[in-house]
Amino acid sequence: MSSPNVITTCLPASGSNVHKVELPENALVLSPTRQLQSLLTIIRDEKTQRTSDRIIRLLVEEGLNHLPVIDKKVTTPTGQVYNGVAFQGRICGVSIMRAGEAMEAGLRDCCRSVRIGKDEETYQPKLFYAKLPDDIAKRYVLLLDPMLATGGSCIKAIEVLLEHGVEEEKILFLNLIASPEGIQKVCTRFPKLRIITAWVDEGLDSNSYIVPGLGDFGDR
Ligand code: URA
Repeated sequence: MSSPNVITTCLPASGSNVHKVELPENALVLSPTRQLQSLLTIIRDEKTQRTSDRIIRLLVEEGLNHLPVIDKKVTTPTGQVYNGVAFQGRICGVSIMRAGEAMEAGLRDCCRSVRIGKDEETYQPKLFYAKLPDDIAKRYVLLLDPMLATGGSCIKAIEVLLEHGVEEEKILFLNLIASPEGIQKVCTRFPKLRIITAWVDEGLDSNSYIVPGLGDFGDR
C-alpha cells in the first residue's frame, strides 16, 4: 500500500464536527459538497425516517468512474463519427445482508441490468448464505454495505468473493458512512481493492456503533 492521504471533514455552516482523518490510498471519500452534507444531515436526524437513495446513487456513479473503459466509435444522427468509450468489463453488485440490500435499488437505478448477489453475516462475521452469479470471477464486483464499523463483515464478504475467484483489484466496496478504524482494517488487509465512501465519521462507541453515525441502519 502506498502513502496515506488526509481528508478534513466539515460542516461549513457551523464549523462543528470537523476532524482530520488519515486515509490509505485505496480509500476514496466523496467530495463534501453541500448537497451531500445536507443529504447526510437528513438521514442522520433521529426525527426523520428518510431513505439514503440519493447518496447511494452518488456512490454508485462514483464507483462506475473507477471501472476500465475501451475506445468505442459511434456515428451520431448528424453523420459524424464520435470517438467515445464503453465500459470494458461486466459488473455484479453484491449486497451484504441485510443493510446492504437497501443499496440495491440505487445500483439498479444506475445499471439497469446489473446482476445482484447476496452475502449474509451476523455480529460475529460468519457466512450464512452466498448466492453469487456463476460467472462472478469474470466480473467487477460492487460490494454494497451502508455502514463500515469494525470492518468484520466487510472482510468476511471480501474473503467469500476471493474464494469464488474474484480478483481483489476488481472489487469496489461502496459505503455510506465509515469509521476510520474500519477503513484502516479493510484497506490494510486488502491493499488492491478500493473503498468508496460518502463520509468518514469520528470513530466507534463501546457497542461498535459509528459515532456520530446514524444508529442502526436497519431501523432507519
Ligand atoms: N451498523 C449499523 O447499522 N450502524 C452502525 O453504527 C454500525 C454498524
